[in-house]
Amino acid sequence: MNIFEALRESHERQRSYADALIQTHGDSAERAEAYERLKAELQAHETAEERHFYIPLMAHDNGVDLSRHAISEHHEMDEMMEELDETEMSSPSWLATAKKLSHKVHHHLTEEEHKFFQAAGKLLDAKQKTSLAEQYLAEYEQILEQA
Ligand SMILES: [Fe+2]
Ligand SMILES: [Fe+2]
Repeated sequence: MNIFEALRESHERQRSYADALIQTHGDSAERAEAYERLKAELQAHETAEERHFYIPLMAHDNGVDLSRHAISEHHEMDEMMEELDETEMSSPSWLATAKKLSHKVHHHLTEEEHKFFQAAGKLLDAKQKTSLAEQYLAEYEQILEQA
């Protein structure tokens, strides 16, 4: 498996968890579970992706801007989750923020897959693409286990 395939597996989970979240209602166990599931997935993916994809890309002149952009979007998503943590689940603004988060997740994944993966494909060699996949997956799994 290469790093792009490894990252895409989580992307598919993020898409389906984000879609499921905005179908939930009020202060329900279903909503709490859907939110915790998305949050754990996003946090494990973001950290492992930053360490084992974007930081190595930053070593290349052509990888700096895209890495900064992606990491700043991770930060925006983290801030939306902090806002959700601080809002009553039964309030209408909770769903409004969850919809914003879902929209951002979809936008971010599209940009990564259609733009950043193409650029990274030219910067990383074949050996790196495989070894980064192993490192990314080990870290991602470890963080999820702790969540
Ligand atoms: Fe990603
Ligand atoms: Fe990302």
